[in-house]
Amino acid sequence: QVDKPLAGRRAVVTSGPTHEPIDPVRYIANRSSGRQGHAIAAALAGLGAEVTLVSGPVAIPDPANVRVRHVETAREMLDAVMTSLPADIAVMVAAVADWRVESLSDQKIKKAPGDAAPALILTENPDILKTIGHHAERPAVVVGFAAETQSVLANGRDKLERKGADLIVANDVSPRTGIMGGEHNQVTLISRDGVEHWPDMDKATVAERLARVIAERLISKS
Ligand code: C5P
Repeated sequence: QVDKPLAGRRAVVTSGPTHEPIDPVRYIANRSSGRQGHAIAAALAGLGAEVTLVSGPVAIPDPANVRVRHVETAREMLDAVMTSLPADIAVMVAAVADWRVESLSDQKIKKAPGDAAPALILTENPDILKTIGHHAERPAVVVGFAAETQSVLANGRDKLERKGADLIVANDVSPRTGIMGGEHNQVTLISRDGVEHWPDMDKATVAERLARVIAERLISKS
C-alpha cells in the first residue's frame, strides 16, 4: 500500500523524561515534554504501524491509535521496551535519566535545624537504546536521539556506533534554542550513509518526515 507503507509492521517508541525517586516525595527529572516522541509514535501509526509507546511521566495526552505503556523510572522503561519486542522499528526518543539514586529512602528525608545537607549517591541507569541496539531480537531499524548542547555532529556519530543504532537524530538543546520542552525542533540526521540537516520545523512535521525515512529504510532492508 502506498499510503500505509508500515502496515503489518511493529514499532516501539520511548518518549518523555524518566523520574528517578530520591524518597517517597522527591525525584530527579529533566525538561523533556514528550512532544517529539509522542508525535513520532503517532506518525508511525499514521503510516500503518502497530505502535507501542513507552512514555515517562508527561503532561500531554496519549496519542490516538497507539498502545501506551506509562512508566516512571529508567528501569521500568527498559522492562516495558523489552517486553514489547519483537518489533521491526525502535525509536528511542525518551530523555532517560543517566543516573538514579543508589539507595532510595523509603521515608521522606527530614530536614532538621542545623543538619548538613544530605549527599545523594548516584548510580548509572541502564542504557535502553544501547541494550536494544545490541540485542538478539534487535529491530531491523533502530533510531536514537542525541540531545546535545555542544559538538552535536561528533557526539551523534559516536552515539551511532556505540549504541548500535542505524540512525541518530541529533539536535542542539541549548536553552537558547527553546527545543527542550518547546513546539519546534531543528534536527540533523546522522547515519552511516551521511548527514542530513533539516530546517527548523514543528515537532509534528519532524515526526512525519522521520517516519517516512524510517519506512524507506525498513522497506529497503526487507
Ligand atoms: O547517551 P545519550 O543519553 O545522549 O543518548 C541519547 C539516546 O539514547 C536517546 O535515543 C535516548 O533515548 C537513549 N538513551 C536510552 N537510555 C539511556 C540513555 C539514553 O535509551 N539510559
